[in-house]
Amino acid sequence: MAPPGRPGCRVVHLERVDSTNRHAARLAAAGAEHGTLVVADEQFAGRGRRGREWSSPPGRNLAFSLILRPALPDDRVPLLALVAGISLADTIGRRLPEVRVKWPNDVWCRGGKLAGILCEAGAPGPAGRAVIMGIGVNVNSRAEDFAPEIPAVSMARLAGRQFDLPLVLRHLVEGLDRDLEIFSAEGFGGRLLERFRHRCLLTGKRVAIEAGDRTGAGMVVGVDAGGRLLLDDDFGCRRFFAAGEASILSHGGCISAAGR
Ligand code: BTN
Repeated sequence: MAPPGRPGCRVVHLERVDSTNRHAARLAAAGAEHGTLVVADEQFAGRGRRGREWSSPPGRNLAFSLILRPALPDDRVPLLALVAGISLADTIGRRLPEVRVKWPNDVWCRGGKLAGILCEAGAPGPAGRAVIMGIGVNVNSRAEDFAPEIPAVSMARLAGRQFDLPLVLRHLVEGLDRDLEIFSAEGFGGRLLERFRHRCLLTGKRVAIEAGDRTGAGMVVGVDAGGRLLLDDDFGCRRFFAAGEASILSHGGCISAAGR
């Protein structure tokens, strides 16, 4: 258990829930404190980004959500998802060094997705605004747990051994605690950005990007201090994307779709 006011200071462990994000949002609306961690052995309506579903075999992977009440200006809140992405990538990267972060916040390794993050605004309640940071990590799942068309991998498949779920959870939450502290002290533009650049999967790759009604294709040249993806398009223009979904292009087409 973490100290008061830190991620993991209160742990709500559920055997089965619709979605840890939904449950955390309900708790947040009722006033749950900053740092409350909701973790479930099984989700029956897990949610992913862009309206997708997130399904995961019961008991093998991690599904958890943190209730955060960050003292941040509104325009910096979206950066929390990037902070979470690099934090998870670095923690998992201690066991699997080739782990990369796929902008904005997916964690990939050797061509497959290892972890995804869904940050959502909680409804305002008596305790004010909350952000729900939902995280799914493929820890011990097997190849047959996912449909073949889903580019998912697990830590166990990559490392050739099983991992202790509570220990991985503890390390991830401790890493998030440290990185959220760094973010609130110095923003994204310092050490976190340097780490993000170091693990960035897309830099130097040709991608197609979809961002609402904006689309683009070109070479990724990096990520800036505002968390934006920098893309040099085929007409020689530098374009900036604050959010969106990127797919890596091979000569023949898309080789890495966004889904899990
Ligand atoms: C994505 O990559 O699309 C984001 C996936 C986020 C999944 C996690 S699992 C725990 C939390 N509860 C949910 O319903 N979703 C997030």
